[in-house]
Amino acid sequence: MSMDLPDALRDELLVHEGADLGPRTTLGVGGPALCVIEPRRREELILAVRELTAAGLPFRMLGHGSNLVVSDAGLDEVVLHTRGMKNIYHHGEQDAALRCEAGATLARLVSVAHDMGLAGAEGLIGIPGTVGGAVAGNAGGREIALGDLLTEVTLVDPDGTTRAVPCSPKDFGYRTSPFAGHVILDAVVQLCPDGKEQIFDRMRRTLRAKAESQPLSASSAGCMFRNPAGASSGALIDRAGCKGLSVGGAQVSPEHANFIVNTGEAMAEDVRRLVVRVQQAVREHSGVDLPLEVEWWGAFEERTPVLGAGSDAE
Ligand code: EPU
Repeated sequence: MSMDLPDALRDELLVHEGADLGPRTTLGVGGPALCVIEPRRREELILAVRELTAAGLPFRMLGHGSNLVVSDAGLDEVVLHTRGMKNIYHHGEQDAALRCEAGATLARLVSVAHDMGLAGAEGLIGIPGTVGGAVAGNAGGREIALGDLLTEVTLVDPDGTTRAVPCSPKDFGYRTSPFAGHVILDAVVQLCPDGKEQIFDRMRRTLRAKAESQPLSASSAGCMFRNPAGASSGALIDRAGCKGLSVGGAQVSPEHANFIVNTGEAMAEDVRRLVVRVQQAVREHSGVDLPLEVEWWGAFEERTPVLGAGSDAE
């Protein structure tokens, strides 16, 4: 379908009309967006936000596509994919703080921090995601979440103005962030100097622990469910006997039950059906309603009340 994109965007930005979203997500399922725009610089992101808003065209932000299930029908909206905005540099006078553009991956942040002899980000190793997505969802691991390190986030308002918002760890909760739903331009991460060997050692230990229990090389959206208070979704799903359960090409990982993996030919609808079956099995086995962690974009055959809860995008 062709669309009326403002000339300023068509002329100046990288625009892919009708681009498939599946390959832009880590799970690898989903149909096309109306159009995908890839800003390469902060000015381009600002231009895109301003022009799309002025034209009344709704849009969504996409980073690494790692916490996301896109429907097979795709999305009748514009997607701003920030993967080209990946600079990380020293923040002003503070040698131990890094300013990271929204599209910089957490992997790159961990690696740049190590190269500079800056400690604090090691616990983020192995988390697939960009800084923008991780700020919006407070992505994290066992030791830390990104929100624990943030001192400032720059947002782009709908009219294209930017605003630097100071923040501290107390503003964030378990996978919750005051910046959810905003357009994030960059974020300042506060680290502290340490020896490169010590930093590398901690990176290696964290990654090894993850690799022992998680299907890191499989296509997945990361953990499908949040952990309910005081419990582990992975353990609950495992105890309900769902490990290895599959619908079409979607399977509950035999390695870690909170991961649904795409074994090759999965459709988004397979994933949705499997999610509903897992939720039913856990409810019957232990009486717990598993809360979804991932976002769902586009229209699905059926949106069960449980699937709808907490699954609204941006
Ligand atoms: N467990 C099982 N069976 C399984 C999986 C786990 O019995 O199939 C048990 C484990 O043996 C352990 C407990 O459940 O006793 C907790 O498991 P784990 O240590 O793997 O931690 P988790 O709570 O499942 C959380 C995050 C992960 C993060 C890891 C490690 C959530 C929903 N998950 O997993 O984050 O990588 O800690 O830091 O908070 C993500 O959010 O996408 C994600 C992968």
